[in-house]
Amino acid sequence: MKTALITGITGQDGLYLAEHLTANGYSVYGLVHGQNNPRLSVVERIVPGVEFVEGDLLDQSSLIAALETCQPSDVYNLGAISFVGLSFKQAVLTGEVTGLGVVRVLEAIRTVNKEIRFYQASSSEMFGKVRETPQNEQTPFHPRSPYGVAKVYGHYITLNYRESYNLFACSGILFNHESERRGHEFVTRKITNGVAKIKLGMQKQLALGNLDAQRDWGYAGDYVRAMHLMLQQDAPEDYVIATGETHSVREFLEVAFSHAGLKWEDHVVSDPRFLRPAEVDLLIGDATKARTRLGWQPTVSFPALVARMVDNDIRLQEAALRRGVEEL
Ligand code: NAP
Ligand code: GDD
Repeated sequence: MKTALITGITGQDGLYLAEHLTANGYSVYGLVHGQNNPRLSVVERIVPGVEFVEGDLLDQSSLIAALETCQPSDVYNLGAISFVGLSFKQAVLTGEVTGLGVVRVLEAIRTVNKEIRFYQASSSEMFGKVRETPQNEQTPFHPRSPYGVAKVYGHYITLNYRESYNLFACSGILFNHESERRGHEFVTRKITNGVAKIKLGMQKQLALGNLDAQRDWGYAGDYVRAMHLMLQQDAPEDYVIATGETHSVREFLEVAFSHAGLKWEDHVVSDPRFLRPAEVDLLIGDATKARTRLGWQPTVSFPALVARMVDNDIRLQEAALRRGVEEL
């Protein structure tokens, strides 16, 4: 039986990946940071077989100890400060966790077992102020946030350890992917949760920032399949994972509100607090390499993704109303 260690198990992708690997016969460990992490019970409920090991991307010795305990064949490094907005406010911490955290995991692998296969969660945010459209594995990077800069470091240090120490280390350059499990700080979930509350009379307005930004939005469940496929190849390489379609935040609003029988113009207000010091205007990925080499393709369309997120949030908020509490 293969054993995988996932950092960021309590996040959106960690949960989907744990489900996917468990279903494929892996023994799965999740690295958990902090004490009494409230998200642990969610992981335990959704993927009962997962075991937990303590560790923090800020703490080198805890990562070495975690690898010694789990003896994994594969490590997926999904842990990060992943919210771009927060990275502007906590730039140094973002560099430490999202950037230097990667080299700490790679050093732990080099120390404990160089045969471990490694996946790094790189990001389309690295393309930032895009140099070409669509973006592929050869497109130069121009990050626009402390988060994007930290991810560029993580990306290149993964490549460097592959070339320097012959590690099986891959980066997936993943474009935005969403789901019912997306954190509420990200625009898609903020919108679908807002739609649900407006529909049920719990809220009247939704305050947002830049509605013109365009993103290539896919479904998270599809994207974790690609992570796993990358580590099954004969040679370690980097891959862009994307749908190849782009939509603006405004289009997302239109589809989400109309799915619930509402008009977004009646409810959305502009709030400068949600604008960023520098913005990524347009992302659209070319996943030809992943399609041809990994046989990967997305299965959930943009309207279907929006609809399932809205339906889920309406269900959650209805249940919360019945219980007399707000569903988080
Ligand atoms: P997420 O929901 O924000 O999850 C981030 C995870 O990182 C959480 O489990 C968090 O733990 C953990 N973490 C934070 N600080 C840590 C630390 N110091 N030590 C160990 N773990 C720490 O992110 P996601 O959407 O699942 O994304 C997974 C990865 O893919 C991230 O690296 C993200 O940057 C990258 N990515 C995401 C997308 C996307 O569209 N979702 C696209 C490209 C790349 P707690 O919850 O316990 O704090
Ligand atoms: N979060 C948020 N909140 N974003 C808003 C809002 C708002 O109220 N109003 C407008 N936006 C715009 C942002 O300015 C951005 O242009 C876009 O909506 C998407 O923002 P997020 O959902 O926060 O995601 P992101 O694209 O910045 O980053 C996500 O995708 C990256 C991959 O491209 C994160 O998951 C990153 O971790 C990931 O690497």
